[in-house]
Amino acid sequence: MDDSFELNKANWNERAALHAASPDYQVRQFIESAEHLSDVVRFDLPRLGDIRGLDALHLQCHIGTDTLSLARLGARLTGLDFSCASLEQARRLAAACQQRIQFVEASVYDAAQALGEQRYDLVYTSIGALNWLPRIDDWARNVAALLKPGGRLFLREAHPVLLSLDESCEDELRIAHSYFENREPLVWDDEQTYVQTEATLTASVTHEWNHGLGEIISALLRHGMTLTALQEHDCLPWEALPGQMQLGTDGEWRLFTRPERLPLSYTLQAVKNR
Ligand SMILES: C[S@@+](CC[C@H](N)C(=O)[O-])C[C@H]1O[C@@H](n2cnc3c(N)ncnc32)[C@H](O)[C@@H]1O
Repeated sequence: MDDSFELNKANWNERAALHAASPDYQVRQFIESAEHLSDVVRFDLPRLGDIRGLDALHLQCHIGTDTLSLARLGARLTGLDFSCASLEQARRLAAACQQRIQFVEASVYDAAQALGEQRYDLVYTSIGALNWLPRIDDWARNVAALLKPGGRLFLREAHPVLLSLDESCEDELRIAHSYFENREPLVWDDEQTYVQTEATLTASVTHEWNHGLGEIISALLRHGMTLTALQEHDCLPWEALPGQMQLGTDGEWRLFTRPERLPLSYTLQAVKNR
């Protein structure tokens, strides 16, 4: 696991500046308009509800665009990520937008320890986070430990059924990878990242894992959480199956043929038992 995390960290450290400089993460719009929110958080709004005044923790916050968006909705934010280069970009963006956000460098698996006595009303995680973690149980243990009694987890993620598909297949939905959590990682070697950039990555090898929906829910229940909402969506914010998807005006991608065939993402909410 340590080797996997070191490989993944090197990859994310290299991506951070490219992401901040690309139009996709909309850094310029955040700086120019104090009302600007990320597309991801804008999608979450109807389910997030009023978060004003909440102590909120964003796990795997990357360059902080979603973190800043949540802060703009009135919560007091802490962002946590293991990539120092991502946090450098996140701190720079928060400062440019005059938003007070604490950013902490740590692995999710050490989050409860790294954040000391601090406990939160809201733990938020979204889109492309859980696939970097080998064991969902260790994630759920940290989430539960970081919440106040009655505190809420808000998770929006790529659907594990989608993550089991062959993304290089352009004319059908073909299962290629494990749906369930597997001890062995999926090993990728990809010099590209998902934003518009000419640059290529030298730290190109990454390790990822899938986690079934039942495994995620069971882990949360095991660690003293109660499931309060689960909604599967026919859309997600990136072109996960190139050649089979179209972009909507809401910034979300859907299958262009019979989108009802496949869940692409889900929103899960759970509350820590009192
Ligand atoms: C795709 S981003 C997810 C955040 C968000 N959706 C975004 O695009 O800004 C994935 C983030 O997870 C972080 N990450 C991966 N594994 C981690 C770990 N074990 N502990 C903490 N952060 C981790 C990476 O550094 C990266 O910033």
